[in-house]
Amino acid sequence: MSNRARKDRRKKKQAERLQKTLSLVFIGVLIIGLAAWLSSQNNRPSEALASRDVLALGEEVYAANCATCHGANGEGHGEVEVAPALDATEHAWHHADGQLQGLIVNGGEQMPPFGESLTNDEVVAVIRYFQTWWSEGQLNSQQSLSEQDPLR
Ligand code: HEC
Repeated sequence: MSNRARKDRRKKKQAERLQKTLSLVFIGVLIIGLAAWLSSQNNRPSEALASRDVLALGEEVYAANCATCHGANGEGHGEVEVAPALDATEHAWHHADGQLQGLIVNGGEQMPPFGESLTNDEVVAVIRYFQTWWSEGQLNSQQSLSEQDPLR
């Protein structure tokens, strides 16, 4: 084999090796990206507090008992105009878990009590459900407040 042909072959091999390395790097980056995306999906704040089953129960309880006044998506001011929003836009996230639970169980000035019609599990589930509407920052601050006044 001529010198020239040997050189060409070596070059071709090098190019192939480079291509292989680059494909591996590319696949690696894809996998890391996918893993990061998946973990960001799982880290939605509310899911750290409750399982999917609890959230599904909360959604049901909410639709059946709360949505008429507080809006289908917590936007507030439904049939009872003064009913506040429970989503991220108003005040709900300023209350500790225990205080939210107390209000739902015992009622407020105009809000009816649910202590007779809902089980404790259902009350907890509905709280976890509307907490999914808050921002991560709101939930974090509300959760540190809740250490003083936790769910019962
Ligand atoms: C008949 C209308 C009505 C229904 C039904 C109702 N609420 Fe309320 N809710 C209110 C009103 C009005 C207030 C404001 C406090 C008051 O004056 O009673 C309130 C306040 C709240 C608050 C405090 C929000 C804040 O920013 O201070 C939470 C939390 C809440 N309700 C959750 C619920 C949940 C959960 C349900 C369903 C289990 C529910 N409410 C059903 C009318 C209602």
